[in-house]
Amino acid sequence: MLRLSSIIFLVGIWTATALPTNYEYYTSDGIMSGLSANQSYFLLNGKNITIYSGSIHYFRVPRAYWQDRLRKLRALGFNTVETYIAWNLHEPEQGSYDFGDGGSELEDFLNLEEFIELAKSEDLFMIVRAGPYICAEFEFGGFPSWLLREDKLTVRSSNELYMNHVTRWFNVLLPILAKHQFTKGGPIIALQVENEFASTGGKDKKYLRELRQLMLGNGIVELLVTSDNPWRGTAGTLPELFLMTGNFNTNGTGNLNYLELYQPGKPKMAMEFWSGWFDYIAQTHQTRTLDNFRQIYTEILTYPASANIYMFIGGTNFQFLNGASNSNEKYSPVTTSYDYDAILSENGDYTVKYYAAKELLAKYNQNPATFTPDMPELVSRITYPSIPITHEIGITSILDSLPNEERSNSVSMEQLNINNGNGQSYGYIVYSKTLDLLSWSELKIVGRPNDIALILLNGKRLTGIIEFSSNLDLFGTWKRENGTIILTEQELHNATLDIIVENSGRVNGGGAYKQFKGLWQGGIEINNQPVSDWKHSALEFKKSWINRLDSWIEAYEPENELSEPKLFKSTLTITEEPKDTYINMEKWVKGIVSVNGFVLGRYAKMGPQQTLYLPAPFLKQGDNDIIVYEHYRGNDYIHFTSDPIYDLF
Ligand SMILES: *[C@@H]1O[C@H](CO)[C@@H](O)[C@H](O)[C@H]1NC(C)=O
Ligand SMILES: *[C@@H]1O[C@H](CO)[C@@H](O)[C@H](O)[C@H]1NC(C)=O
Ligand SMILES: *[C@@H]1O[C@H](CO)[C@@H](O)[C@H](O)[C@H]1NC(C)=O
Ligand SMILES: *[C@@H]1O[C@H](CO)[C@@H](O)[C@H](O)[C@H]1NC(C)=O
Ligand SMILES: *[C@@H]1O[C@H](CO)[C@@H](O)[C@H](O)[C@H]1NC(C)=O
Repeated sequence: MLRLSSIIFLVGIWTATALPTNYEYYTSDGIMSGLSANQSYFLLNGKNITIYSGSIHYFRVPRAYWQDRLRKLRALGFNTVETYIAWNLHEPEQGSYDFGDGGSELEDFLNLEEFIELAKSEDLFMIVRAGPYICAEFEFGGFPSWLLREDKLTVRSSNELYMNHVTRWFNVLLPILAKHQFTKGGPIIALQVENEFASTGGKDKKYLRELRQLMLGNGIVELLVTSDNPWRGTAGTLPELFLMTGNFNTNGTGNLNYLELYQPGKPKMAMEFWSGWFDYIAQTHQTRTLDNFRQIYTEILTYPASANIYMFIGGTNFQFLNGASNSNEKYSPVTTSYDYDAILSENGDYTVKYYAAKELLAKYNQNPATFTPDMPELVSRITYPSIPITHEIGITSILDSLPNEERSNSVSMEQLNINNGNGQSYGYIVYSKTLDLLSWSELKIVGRPNDIALILLNGKRLTGIIEFSSNLDLFGTWKRENGTIILTEQELHNATLDIIVENSGRVNGGGAYKQFKGLWQGGIEINNQPVSDWKHSALEFKKSWINRLDSWIEAYEPENELSEPKLFKSTLTITEEPKDTYINMEKWVKGIVSVNGFVLGRYAKMGPQQTLYLPAPFLKQGDNDIIVYEHYRGNDYIHFTSDPIYDLF
C-alpha cells in the first residue's frame, strides 16, 4: 500500500510539472476533427487554439539545417510553421518531378515529406501555401519558366492551357500533402489557395473555384484559406468557400477590423505579418524597426488574433532563384540573400526580434502552456583565411561546349528546345554570329534586353562595366530601349560577335507575365538592318557542367579589368569540420559564385549585398572548389567573413 501511494504521489508530481506537448494536448484523445473556422475563434480537434506561426521556406534553407530552424521556431513558443511549395523547383521539366531525388540542381532542398515530418517531430502544426502561385519574391513567383512557351497561356487564371499544367501538377503534389493532413495523423492543419489574388483585380473567381475543386478532388479535407491585403476587401476570395486572412505590417488592429468587416464572425488571422523586408539590387538595404514589430505584434496578439510571421527565417535565394519587381524600365531584381531582417538571420542567428516575439507571446498567449524546448545553441561561424585565385578560363573559349541551337531570329531562352523541350530557365544566354564584313557599324538591340547584355567583338568586351548603380543606365541594361553601341569604326573581316545576356530573375508578382529572358523583343540590328542566323548557346551553370570544366589555365592578373568574362578558380582546403561562413565579394564587380559546382548565387558591387552566405553543409573536409564567374574585374583572392556586409555603390 505504501509503495502504491508513493507511486501515485510521484505520478502526481510529474503531471503537475511536466507540460504536454502540442500533440499531446490536442490529440491525446484521438483525432475527430481538423481546424475549424466555423465560429469566431479557431478550434483544433474541438479544442480552442490560437495559431502562433512563422514562415520557413524549405527551399531557402539547407536541408541539414531544417531541424535547427524548426526547433528554434518551436522554442520561441510558436505552435505552427508555415511553408510554401515552389512549383518551379519540383517540376523543373514538364511532367518530370523532383522531391529530393530527381537530379535537379536544387535536389537536396526538395524532400518535402522529410520537411513535413520534421515539423511534426518538432511538435509543430503546419500551414501550407500550395500555390500554384506563391509570390514570395521568388523566381517568377514560383512558376516554372516553361509555362511561358505557350503563347496563349495566362497564369493565375482559369485559362485552359494554364489549368492543364496546374491540374497535372496538383494531381502529383496534393496527394502527397493529403497524406500529411492533421486528420490523417500529420501536421497540416490548413492550406492556402493562390496568394493575394485580389491584386490581380480578382475577377476570375472560376479560377479559385477550380483550384478548390482540385484540392477537394485530391483528398484535401483541412481548412482552405486565401490571403490578401485586407483593405482590398473580398476580391481575392470567396467568403463562402475560404477563410480570408490578411497580409500587412502596419495598422494591426485596423487590418484585423477589415477582416471582421468583410467576413464577420470568423476567426482573424494575419497570414503574413511582415517581420522585415527584402532587398533589391542597387537599392538601400531594408530593415523594419523593432518598435514597429513590437507594436503591431502586440496589436495582433491582444486583438486577440492568430498570426503567421513572415518570415521567421528568410534564408537565401540560392542559384538564380531571386524574384524581381515590375518590368521594363522599373524592373528591379531581388538580391540573393533573403535575410528579410527576419526573426532569425539568414544564417540562423537569433535577432532582437526573436527575443521580443518570445517575450510578447509569453505575455499574451491565449493557449494553455505546452512543453517548449530550450533555445538551440547557435551554429558557429568562421572567417576562413583568404585563398588565392589559381586558375582561369575565358568565357569565349568554352562557348562551343554549351548546348546550342541555330535560329534565324534571336529568341528568348525559354523558347530554346533544350532541356527536353522545356527551354532554358536560368543563367545566361549567348547569341553568336560571324560577320563576314563590317565597316563602320552600329548595333541596336530593338526593344529592351532582358536583362543585361554584354557584347564581345572578337572576344573583346565593348559594353561598359556595370559596377555602380548609376551604370545601370549604360547601354545593354533593361533600362535602355532601342539602345545602340558602335561595334567598329574600321573594316573587319569574319569578326565574331557574342552577346551574353544575363537573366537577372523573373518578376514574381503584379501583372507582368510575358517576361521572356534574352533578346526577343525586336531582334538585333546592325546599321538599322535586321541581322539573322544566330547561334543561341545556353550558359546555365549546371553542376554537372561546372564540375566537368577541364580547360583551366594558370590565372593571370585577375584583378585587372577583363576584356572578356572569366571563370576563376580557387581551392578552400578545410582540415577540421566545415563551418558556416560568408564569402566576401566586396573586391569583385559582378557575377556568380559556385561552391563544389553548386551556384550559391549572384553578387554585385553596387550592392546592397556584398557577401554570400556559405553554409557548412555545402563544404566538405579536404579541398573545396570555389569558382567565380566575373564579368568585369576580379581579384587575386577570395575573401571570407563571419558576418554579412551591406553597402551600396
Ligand atoms: C464547419 O462547417 C461546415 C459547414 O457546416 C462543415 O461541413 C464542417 O465540417 C465544419 N468544420 C469543422 C472542422 O467542424
Ligand atoms: C474558446 O474560446 C471562446 C472565445 O474566446 C470562449 O468563449 C470559449 O469559452 C473557449 N472554450 C474553451 C473550452 O475554453
Ligand atoms: C487602419 O485600418 C482602418 C480600418 O479598420 C482604416 O479605417 C484606417 O484608415 C487605417 N489606418 C491607417 C493609418 O491606415
Ligand atoms: C523602338 O524601336 C521599335 C522598332 O523600330 C519601335 O516600334 C519603338 O517605338 C521604338 N521605341 C522607342 C522608345 O523609340
Ligand atoms: C572568312 O571566312 C571564310 C570562311 O571560313 C573564309 O573563306 C575567308 O577567307 C575568310 N575571310 C578572311 C578575309 O579572312
